Amino acid sequence: MGKLALGVAVGVAVATCAVAGVVVGRRLRSRRKWRRVVGVLRELEESCETPVGRLKQVVDAMAVEMHAGLASEGGSKLKMLLTFVDRLPNGLDFLASNLICCPRFVVCFCVVCVVLFVNLLFGFVVRSEIGTYYALDLGGTNFRVLRVQLGGTRSSILSKDVKRQRIPQHLMTSTSEDLFDFITSKLKQFVEQEETVSEAAQSRTRELGFTFSFPVKQISIRSGFLIRWTKGFAIEDMIGCEIIERLQAALMKKGLDMCATVLVNDTVGILALGHYYDADTVAAVKIGTGTNACYMERADAIIKCQGLLTSSGAMVVNMEWGNFWSSHLPRTTYDIEMDMESPNPNDQGFEKMISGMYLGDIFRRVLLRMCEESDVFGPVSSKLLIPFVLEMPLMAAMHEDDTPDLKVVAAILREKLEIQDVPLKARRLVVKVCDVVTRRAARLAAAGIVGILKKIGRDGTGGITGSRSRSDAKMRRTVVAVEGSLYTSYMMFREYLHEALNEILGEDVAQHVVLRTTEDGSCVGAALLAALHSSSSSSSEGLHRRR
Ligand code: BGC
Repeated sequence: MGKLALGVAVGVAVATCAVAGVVVGRRLRSRRKWRRVVGVLRELEESCETPVGRLKQVVDAMAVEMHAGLASEGGSKLKMLLTFVDRLPNGLDFLASNLICCPRFVVCFCVVCVVLFVNLLFGFVVRSEIGTYYALDLGGTNFRVLRVQLGGTRSSILSKDVKRQRIPQHLMTSTSEDLFDFITSKLKQFVEQEETVSEAAQSRTRELGFTFSFPVKQISIRSGFLIRWTKGFAIEDMIGCEIIERLQAALMKKGLDMCATVLVNDTVGILALGHYYDADTVAAVKIGTGTNACYMERADAIIKCQGLLTSSGAMVVNMEWGNFWSSHLPRTTYDIEMDMESPNPNDQGFEKMISGMYLGDIFRRVLLRMCEESDVFGPVSSKLLIPFVLEMPLMAAMHEDDTPDLKVVAAILREKLEIQDVPLKARRLVVKVCDVVTRRAARLAAAGIVGILKKIGRDGTGGITGSRSRSDAKMRRTVVAVEGSLYTSYMMFREYLHEALNEILGEDVAQHVVLRTTEDGSCVGAALLAALHSSSSSSSEGLHRRR
């Protein structure tokens, strides 16, 4: 009896030990797996680090590359393209409203009165942008058609009508004829639905600004040749072609009596609108599907174009900063793999770390690696193998999920990536990955902006040579117009960008730098420039005479 009891007791003890062993083993295995997943995150964090010291190196590199790109053709990965925009629209409406708040209002008011009086006396008006103008905006996932009516005593924007449309995916890799047929047919529909345009306006050739947001070598304000595609567009027969000729041919084919008076990059449109609202605007940045910046440069600083004469002594330069590269950029294995598998390897390195088209794919690659390392997320979902499956707005939604149990994250993982039943602690990890990828992007974008300020001597350090100290460099109010969904619709991105700007510049200087969001600047600005360069108002007559 005693032996039996002992046997049972030993048996129970062995069984208990075995069960405990299995449980402990499982726990250990699962801990090991969890540690591996966390290891992937830690590694990502380390390789994406952007301490302020590193950001300052990026600032310097940006300013140096800008110089090199202006010095000679091909002198830098930054193309620093001429735009032939040498003056920008200026909104006296805004000037007037700002003057009211100015302490020296009386003096300014008198100056404005004298200017207006002189203008009246000589039959001139200060503003030149009057009438109905159009814009076509092609550059990212969306395509826009716009009509603006400029008028009133100060030719303010009286009305604006915009139609947005997604570019069908197949057209991005089709032929130029297909693409231009599509955009001009949309323009035709838009024009045919017009009701408000006066008879006088209808009887003359409609003028439009064409915003074409890719690297273009311009030879005048209305002529330019495509250098290469970006952002997933790949239409071979367009490379090296004159863009306005293609557009005019397509307009003619559709029987549209329209004339493209200006060809601009989206950043140039944004700068034009920014300047129209606020004359202190000196640069513009776009951070959407792709990214880029432009700014007003002194003509004599554009060394590669010696003897360049412009009416204002300056010209807007399209930096094409998406192609910026520096060894100081924190690059991860995910960036390297994404670049190698992209349609444009070794190009647009900065863009691939910053812009909306790529952030979701960096995230996808990190998550895939985590899934391969462990089964914390269950079996590897085949969706995770599809490039660009996760678009930036979804990544932003996960990052900004403020539900206590991260419901949004769970829903996106389930519905978009087919990853089911992810435990809460793993969902927290997902949010962290979004955070690391976005924070790096925003901080690098901030460094890029300060790079421009440094180049034009507005960063409080006395410019690229740094010969003046912060204290003796007098800071002027400096406005940078910003557009693009990352900045306008992704709050965390915007906050990180502002935070980095303050860190790099220091508060004393940062308080003089204003980032101002514009709306539809890429196309409204193009229409304003079309008005400024209107063919019906030839040179000084058209630009300055009352109509
Ligand atoms: C293009 C630029 C454009 C930017 C933002 C980049 O991919 O090269 O020309 O301004 O995207 O749209």
